[in-house]
Amino acid sequence: MSDNNSRCSSEPAASNRYFNIQHEGLKFSTRAVLVGQEPDPSTGAISVPIYQTSTFLLDELGSNKGYQYARTHNPTRTALEKCLASLENGAHALAFGSGLAAASAVLNLLSQGDHVIVGEDVYGGVYRLFEKVLTRYGLTFTYVDSADIDQVGAAIQGNTKLLWLESPTNPILKLADIRALARLARNYGIISVVDNTFASPYFQRPLDLGADVIVHSTTKYLSGHSDVIGGAVVTSSDELFENLKFHQNAVGAVPGPFDCYLALRGLKTLSLRMREHERSATAVATFLEEHPAVERVYYPGLTSHPQHDLAKSQMGGYGGVVACTLKGGEEAARRLLNGTTIFGLAESLGGTRSLICHPATMTHAPVPAEIRKERGITDGLIRLSIGLEDAEDLIRDLYHSLERRPFAVVSDATAKHGSVSSASLYDANDTEHDATTASNKAVYTEQRIDKEVCEARFTVSV
Ligand SMILES: Cc1ncc(COP(=O)(O)O)c(C=O)c1O
Repeated sequence: MSDNNSRCSSEPAASNRYFNIQHEGLKFSTRAVLVGQEPDPSTGAISVPIYQTSTFLLDELGSNKGYQYARTHNPTRTALEKCLASLENGAHALAFGSGLAAASAVLNLLSQGDHVIVGEDVYGGVYRLFEKVLTRYGLTFTYVDSADIDQVGAAIQGNTKLLWLESPTNPILKLADIRALARLARNYGIISVVDNTFASPYFQRPLDLGADVIVHSTTKYLSGHSDVIGGAVVTSSDELFENLKFHQNAVGAVPGPFDCYLALRGLKTLSLRMREHERSATAVATFLEEHPAVERVYYPGLTSHPQHDLAKSQMGGYGGVVACTLKGGEEAARRLLNGTTIFGLAESLGGTRSLICHPATMTHAPVPAEIRKERGITDGLIRLSIGLEDAEDLIRDLYHSLERRPFAVVSDATAKHGSVSSASLYDANDTEHDATTASNKAVYTEQRIDKEVCEARFTVSV
């Protein structure tokens, strides 16, 4: 026998070492890369295969390999679900075809006549699902300021079965005290649900804070590249899981295997991306706060955020979404929205490309105008999803748009001749720099950012 073939019989088979990993003690980033992602047993493939199949052959009647029909189970989906459960410190996860399909599955836990308390500043599509669809099935909804625990308590009725929270909220980044509200709900036998889309499990884990169920639009940070629509529900309750799993199969709003593969691929880099989203969001929020044209900035990482202390106590970081209003109101907001070039004008968030949007006419258009106004979603409100571009370019883009001069746009003639020099795009004073200093704190100085931007005289921590 050659040396290559000799192996002591007491050594574990090579493949076992990848299949018997104890995940519990591993750190978040390690679990994001490993959990549910054992190598393919037949080939050793390191990426979970896309099991593009609708059904599975049985050896004989009553015997399957854990899979029978792909609406019920699909191995690529199982891999995603295992990884999601682990990242949220939950026992179970279920993947859905969209965030709204996941929300809908949670509401499937209820029956006609049940009542739901909802944090008032929720994503417009969730509001539409509740008000335009589920009220027709005999559910009732009361909207409260979830930042005010007394308002939540006062809304509890004998038939209240579910408390729906978003924290931070979309779009004005209000927080709910998840610990306190989950405790309150539990005292009344109410299921507490937290939409954790904005924070992602990297920055906030609601089950650890006492919530019963987590909902995600995996379309956003979890997938992270603006190329897939998906949703998920996570829980540690076996009973809720069985009920949700039943509805996942019975209603059938499941994601396809390729979408699961994309979401799982996104999870692997979640921690890296979230750190960078947050670093740049802090820089952008600070720039906006110090800009004379800006009226108000909403970002839980700013000390000016009224719930900054709560954010510190329940979040590990503040995420990548920033909202603001301008002193010039709606007209000024429209100019900013129409004038950016690096920020793309589009709905959604959590991707690599930075996006700017107008909640009143885009994401929150389903919410009636008078209710939007009551909830602070004014016509002058702007929401920014900070992507993975360099923070300096993002700030310059906003600055130029506020000054009504597009940033980094090449004239048609220059573009045609292909002679774009950096000088034609940026000011001469612009120099490359390494944004990461030893203290992870960079001060943008005159050498580091456009001369014009420096006229705004700001200092930014990243
Ligand atoms: C906080 C939040 N929850 C749920 C959803 C719905 O997710 P999806 O668009 O994947 O259905 C969104 C979508 O923007 C959202 O922002």
